[in-house]
Amino acid sequence: TTGMVEIVRAPVVTIMGHVDHGKTSLLDAIRSTDVAAGEAGGITQHIGAYKVHVTKPDSPAFGREIVFLDTPGHEAFTRMRARGAKVTDIVVVVVAADDGVMPQTLEAIDHAKAANVPIIVAINKIDKPGADSNKVKQQLAERGLQLVGWGGEVEFVEVSAKKKLNLDLLEEMICLVADIASPKAVPERPAVGTVIEAKLDRGRGAVASILVQNGTLRTGDSYIVGNTFGKIRAMFDDRGRAITEAGPSTPVEILGLEGMPDAGDTFLVMADRDKAKGIAQYRKMKEREAQLAKSSRVSLEGLAE
Ligand code: GTP
Ligand code: NA
Ligand code: MG
Repeated sequence: TTGMVEIVRAPVVTIMGHVDHGKTSLLDAIRSTDVAAGEAGGITQHIGAYKVHVTKPDSPAFGREIVFLDTPGHEAFTRMRARGAKVTDIVVVVVAADDGVMPQTLEAIDHAKAANVPIIVAINKIDKPGADSNKVKQQLAERGLQLVGWGGEVEFVEVSAKKKLNLDLLEEMICLVADIASPKAVPERPAVGTVIEAKLDRGRGAVASILVQNGTLRTGDSYIVGNTFGKIRAMFDDRGRAITEAGPSTPVEILGLEGMPDAGDTFLVMADRDKAKGIAQYRKMKEREAQLAKSSRVSLEGLAE
């Protein structure tokens, strides 16, 4: 044994669903409900993920933390899954109670099922006059997703992002479902994570949002990520505050990249910087080879026609 201590890490939740069913509103409502009163509303979202701390004293989820991925969108989710990246522990599928089940609702369910991730259905907009949550439950059942009380075991919560109804129930449900899987991590090991997004920032250069999934990331750490590498010059939490350490289930923004990684790339701390550089260069070379092979195949096909 290594003597390294395993802990239960905070669950990572992705919110999915049809256009305009209220994904962002739900996240906004949860965030402003749970962040310290003084910070509510004024928080700038620096990265596509954030950590919520349940602070309602009478909530069974009190003291728990939940990481929300701010809708990477179905495409990004599919791309990440196709590349083998598994970032989410739970998918919350948002369905507007007035609109009902729509094509992207079904897509979200398919994605979650394919990724083998538990689903919680949030039936949103129950404040609206046209809301009919029983219709939603029936539609879901017809499409093979049976909710609790409707012949199945999929948990659901009826919410209103607008009126802030039952948001605490949703948090409780997330914690309940998370407890079944009880995701673990070892804070003492070198950090491992996944790129949520990466962009070129004028002035700061390449910037990546990373979800630290295991281990602890520290400033000064050398790492490999996709076909590039670097050293943590600085990192920031989901409120843009500079931090020097990030444990399991922590979204961070990092600077100090030598190149540009892709969403879904694995991030790995390596003690030996030269080794990280060597692997990155090797990966880049392989990628170029593959691209060349592809383009020559295309031009040969063109000649054959
Ligand atoms: P996309 O990201 O564009 O797919 O949309 P979304 O799913 O993030 O939905 P968004 O949060 O942008 O909400 C869409 C619209 O529904 C907005 O006008 C919201 O104000 C409204 N809305 C969201 N939640 C509720 C709710 O609980 N009740 C009511 N009445 N309106 C809501
Ligand atoms: Na919208
Ligand atoms: Mg949105």
